[in-house]
Amino acid sequence: MFKYSALLALVALMPAIANAQSPLYGQCGGIGWSGATTCVSGSSCQKLNDYYSQCLPGAAAPTSAPTSAPPTSPTVTPTAPGSSVPLPSTTPTAGNPFVGYEAFLSPYYQDEVTAAVSAISDPTLKAKAAKVASVPNFTWFDVIAKVPTLGDYLSAASAKQASTGTKQLVQIVVYDLPDRDCAALASNGEFSIANNGLNNYKGYIDQIVAQVKKFPDVRIVAVIEPDSLANLVTNLNVQKCSGAQTAYKQGVTYAMQQLNAVGVYMYLDAGHAGWLGWPANLTPAAQLFAQLYKDAGSPQFVRGLATNVANFNALRASSPDPITQGNQNYDEIHYIEALAPALSSQGFPASFIVDQGRSGVQNIRQQWGDWCNVKGAGFGMRPTTNTGSSLIDAVVWVKPGGECDGTTNTSSPRYDAHCGLSDAAPNAPEAGTWFQSYFETLVSAANPAF
Ligand code: BGC
Repeated sequence: MFKYSALLALVALMPAIANAQSPLYGQCGGIGWSGATTCVSGSSCQKLNDYYSQCLPGAAAPTSAPTSAPPTSPTVTPTAPGSSVPLPSTTPTAGNPFVGYEAFLSPYYQDEVTAAVSAISDPTLKAKAAKVASVPNFTWFDVIAKVPTLGDYLSAASAKQASTGTKQLVQIVVYDLPDRDCAALASNGEFSIANNGLNNYKGYIDQIVAQVKKFPDVRIVAVIEPDSLANLVTNLNVQKCSGAQTAYKQGVTYAMQQLNAVGVYMYLDAGHAGWLGWPANLTPAAQLFAQLYKDAGSPQFVRGLATNVANFNALRASSPDPITQGNQNYDEIHYIEALAPALSSQGFPASFIVDQGRSGVQNIRQQWGDWCNVKGAGFGMRPTTNTGSSLIDAVVWVKPGGECDGTTNTSSPRYDAHCGLSDAAPNAPEAGTWFQSYFETLVSAANPAF
């Protein structure tokens, strides 16, 4: 604590002794930094970590160590460079970011669903499937090559907002850590730690930030890195996960800080009830999430955690599925109610969002750990802010139903044995690609029905 305060005092002194000015979002301090330490007009030098201070819109943040107090709103109205449009960082950060906004429909998913509907001949199923296109879903940026399309989506959302007067919320998933999916094979990603992966990841985040900056009028909610931190809680016995620990933490911290600087609301992925919800895992999970959050400077736009992403658990199960036996946190609400106080007491007053996209049918798995294209699943509860819990900001659909969890092709390098289990759907393509027959069963088994 003493060291931290001393460094802050040093950073605070720096502007007084420097002449040149750093641009908005430029570096302006940090250990080893010898460049400009003052910022252009309208921005101020704010410490993100010991190694990096950045020129951010508005007045300086209070120069005290981060605390667990709820985030406060900036009092000034910063603008984007060369524009008079307020940056999203001016929006009040206390409160649920979903309230007052309409979730913009992912054009990417709409295209997938449109193609899927045209391939269905049964008229009843076809009509139901067409309705899926109007349920908001998250868009996954699972490779860096997709990032430029974020600009297209934001541009379309901005135009819709301008023409309808209804405020738009774009929902994205940040998913490209190096050595991704360290405890499984199906979603191994494009970056490898051994091959400059962390720097590549930072470049990926920087590209997202660049797109976000172009559309300061559109609100963005992001789920950060499904499975990554949960793997660090329970899977450090897997060599790839222990080897990825530092890169995951640094990558997620970088994502939090950089996306925070441009006003993206974030929920860190927190696995699900059948993973971190086991009593023995709750405390270590809360410690890891809270530590990262605090080390990142308690970023005001990190709103909390996302649970059940791409999984199949109910928010509120009518009765415990037998596979959950031994865990009193047998559904997401129990998990969240157990985790939230542990987080708060560690200095992370988190709110939650819960994926219910494929949770319409329960008691379909042979084991709780089965996660791949589970047979018999149906689309679930529709996205809503009417969650019945003050801890939960929104029920959302994060996994785009119809996109595959993992291939059944045993000769693929990404073949994972979970996808070959008897409760996993057969003939599955690679993770993330379209799985038409699975989509059709999600539609026909949807609960509530379409
Ligand atoms: C895949 C990603 C995909 C995501 C959403 C993951 O399992 O690895 O490529 O974007 O699911 O469908």
